Amino acid sequence: MSTKPLPLTTELHAYLVAHGSAPDEIVRELAEETRAVLPAEAGMRVAPEQAAFLTFLTRLVGVRQAVEVGTSTGLLSLAIARGLVDGGRLTCFDVSGEHAGVARRYWGRAGVADRIDLRVGPVADALRELPGERYLDFAFLDGDQVGYPVYWDELVPRMRSGAVIAVGGTLRAGRVLAPRDADDRAIAAFNDEVVADARVEAVMLPVADGVTLARVR
Ligand SMILES: C[S@@+](CC[C@H](N)C(=O)[O-])C[C@H]1O[C@@H](n2cnc3c(N)ncnc32)[C@H](O)[C@@H]1O
Repeated sequence: MSTKPLPLTTELHAYLVAHGSAPDEIVRELAEETRAVLPAEAGMRVAPEQAAFLTFLTRLVGVRQAVEVGTSTGLLSLAIARGLVDGGRLTCFDVSGEHAGVARRYWGRAGVADRIDLRVGPVADALRELPGERYLDFAFLDGDQVGYPVYWDELVPRMRSGAVIAVGGTLRAGRVLAPRDADDRAIAAFNDEVVADARVEAVMLPVADGVTLARVR
């Protein structure tokens, strides 16, 4: 077996996307609207295959209680909500409610609005107010990257054994190898912390801008 990594060219990426389940009309339209209201320069890179991946993963884990940090226009929260078991709940946190109207419109269209509770305001404070017991099955971190260590420390003790934490943007377009700014340095340091954290086993996947999956022991 070769140990040489496969370079993911644009063509190969398109092939990979075309050979997974296609995003439905709702995901396609939400991705399009997100690109229109949040151009890539704003740090928003929309990868619809990440939506399919999160729905798949949520179903696989059998998630009843989930948390998302960083919701924006709600594309990935929609994906997580679709994968919840019957009666499952997703609590979303974002410091800003600027795009909550867009998110709620698409959650409504997808029939998942009643499974999602969006809380707007300082996220670390809100996480501290969550129940202290180990009740969460799934968490997705996709907010401000300098905040990841704080969110991680609040969430890991609340995750059940076997629960999964997914973290978005952990490759920083490859800049984790040579950090250029505070966000690059923050995520590189966070990645080091995760792999050294004995409470979890972790893998990093080259999905979208890097997704780390950590399974809580
Ligand atoms: C990459 S976007 C999230 C994308 C979203 N998960 C989706 O499915 O489209 C990052 C989000 O982090 C939020 N954010 C920025 N600074 C934050 C902070 N200090 N605390 C919490 N969220 C923050 C932004 O408001 C934005 O909605």
